[in-house]
Amino acid sequence: MLFLTVTLFLIRWKYSTKSFLEQKNIKSKPSVAIIVPIRNRPFEEKFIRVYFSQYLSQFQEYSYEIIFAEQILDDYHFNKGLLSNAAFLSLKNRSYDCYCLQDADTVPLTNELLYRCPKGAVPYHLTPPKLHPHVTYDDSGAGNFVFTSEQFIVVNGFGSNFWGWGKADDNLVKRFKSKNLWPLEVPTNTSERFVHLDCDPQRTASQAPEDKKQFLIEDLGSYGLNTSVFEMVSFERLDDIPIPISKMSFKLHCNMDVTPWCKK
Ligand SMILES: *[C@@H]1O[C@H](CO)[C@@H](O)[C@H](O)[C@H]1NC(C)=O
Ligand SMILES: *[C@@H]1O[C@H](CO)[C@@H](O)[C@H](O)[C@H]1NC(C)=O
Ligand SMILES: *[C@@H]1O[C@H](CO)[C@@H](O)[C@H](O)[C@H]1NC(C)=O
Repeated sequence: MLFLTVTLFLIRWKYSTKSFLEQKNIKSKPSVAIIVPIRNRPFEEKFIRVYFSQYLSQFQEYSYEIIFAEQILDDYHFNKGLLSNAAFLSLKNRSYDCYCLQDADTVPLTNELLYRCPKGAVPYHLTPPKLHPHVTYDDSGAGNFVFTSEQFIVVNGFGSNFWGWGKADDNLVKRFKSKNLWPLEVPTNTSERFVHLDCDPQRTASQAPEDKKQFLIEDLGSYGLNTSVFEMVSFERLDDIPIPISKMSFKLHCNMDVTPWCKK
């Protein structure tokens, strides 16, 4: 009887230790949420689902999830900043270790650039001027960033008023600078390259007025996460393997008093 009890106890102990270790193992993988703002870009969406998910899955020591943030149901210009803020705010309660803002059309070309959380106190810019496929000016915020929740919140996220393409990410750089989150961490291996899948005409067709962009670019945080008004219309799981991919669709709200040019 005693023997049986001890055996059972040992078996149970073994199992619970094992599952505890397994859980611990899973938990100890840093988790990265990759947010991809889009609107009506089936080619880029497919490319990310087929190719980029495969690319990320090679880094076994990280746990990734891709989330498309899609702007739908409006006749407004595209607003990458507000869309990214909406996705970030909707994911915040899941406690990822860090978040990557990934442009749908700027994907890694070489095989080894690790998508990971920032090593220090500043955000990690994966595509600084020398590595970005075509943006070459200093202090560019173009392309793909990784940051922690704290780093994004302290700058009040992206400006929420950038209706139309352009300058929202350069404004984010100014925000990071103003909070001393500067210079940004950049990849040390400068042989890495990104490729630009420039297949979409909406970029040039939906630009914000130049004078408005200039005015907005100086805003260091009055508009941002706390002025992002939106409704999540749907949340759909697209894929489970090789990594989980979902799509959140948002209806964004434009404050017509502040940004009457938001309508197309
Ligand atoms: C996070 O919040 C969303 C909606 O706000 C909810 O649907 C989801 O279940 C929450 N997730 C967790 C892990 O709490
Ligand atoms: C730098 O990146 C290139 C391209 O991915 C790779 O071939 C090379 O091995 C890397 N070098 C180092 C030192 O990691
Ligand atoms: C949003 O936050 C900024 C920065 O803290 C602040 O200046 C602004 O007044 C806030 N706006 C609203 C509507 O709460």
